[in-house]
Amino acid sequence: MIEPIKTIIKDELSEEDKEKYSLLGKELIANSQVAVCILAGGQGTRLGHDGPKGTFIVPLKEPKSIFQIQVETLLRAYKEFGSYPNLYVMTSKDNDQITKEFFKSNNFFGYPKEKIKFFVQGELPLTDRNKNPLNAMAPNGNGGIFKALEDEGILQEMKDQNIKYLVTQNVDNILANPIDAISIGILKENNAEIGIKSIIKAYPDERVGNTVLKDGRPTVIEYVDFPKNLAEELDENGELKYKEAHFGVNYLSIDLLNRIAEEKLPIHEAYKSNDKYGDFIKYEMFIFDGFEKANNGLVIRVKREDEFAPIKNKEGNDSPETASIMYEEKYK
Ligand code: UD1
Repeated sequence: MIEPIKTIIKDELSEEDKEKYSLLGKELIANSQVAVCILAGGQGTRLGHDGPKGTFIVPLKEPKSIFQIQVETLLRAYKEFGSYPNLYVMTSKDNDQITKEFFKSNNFFGYPKEKIKFFVQGELPLTDRNKNPLNAMAPNGNGGIFKALEDEGILQEMKDQNIKYLVTQNVDNILANPIDAISIGILKENNAEIGIKSIIKAYPDERVGNTVLKDGRPTVIEYVDFPKNLAEELDENGELKYKEAHFGVNYLSIDLLNRIAEEKLPIHEAYKSNDKYGDFIKYEMFIFDGFEKANNGLVIRVKREDEFAPIKNKEGNDSPETASIMYEEKYK
């Protein structure tokens, strides 16, 4: 059963609660018990940039690459909390080498090199529309993270270092704010295994995941899978009934990662076309299909202008221009 989900609205917390959670969160961050993972294995076809999406130069007043922007966010966290979170970058077979070289040739953007690790996600075969193999492979979706963390020894490393949470973020969101002491404190206080950040959906068919309660557990249903009638349904106040939008910043406990790595996630089919393969099917796992396995999951709603400026399209909505405007506004 799918139902709307209750959220903790970060902005509406009392000053006292903010202070309490912030202290709890700071403790974990300062003790290096929160790590960050940038999901950078995707192909980013919509943007049409030739190369890994993180290497795209954002047209800010002072232009810089997406990866630089993401690392600068962590450098700010270092200034505030006095410790460098481990940074893991998930790549795919296609872009692993070039991603590593980009970091290296930019001197890791001033971040301690030993705090950054790259790991490669898995692949699944492509088929034609009749499900005949095409003799070609593609990244297996961002849900490939769980197995990859285990296979590449990152999960073990995090356990050895007594890390409690891994924050995942999409490569293309230049306002992602993973090291957020209040949110981390809320998770700690509630012993939560998953924290899904949400914003209010801008319009019914916005291409964002819908954060909902499914059979009593918080999870996300992707825009392509969300029934149109539910997406458009209004509540008694005339607002969207399902208004919590997932934007790809999620806090996963190490225990949860450990459990999901042992499970099989569902495989979604995406119908695609290109010059090379004509009409074909790409098979992907979604990171949030693991969220239902969490105990004490919760959703924290934040403000879009504070945390979500995606670069998806060449122009129009969610483009380098719109994201740059939001970035300049936040950091002016
Ligand atoms: C994604 C979310 C969607 C959310 C939106 C916000 C998923 C499945 N969907 O949609 O719910 O509202 O972002 O912008 O997460 N990636 C990999 N490996 C892959 C495929 C993707 O690392 O095999 C990475 C991408 O590089 C990107 C992230 O996962 O950083 C999201 O993938 P993308 O294809 O951009 O998903 P969206 O359709 O934008």
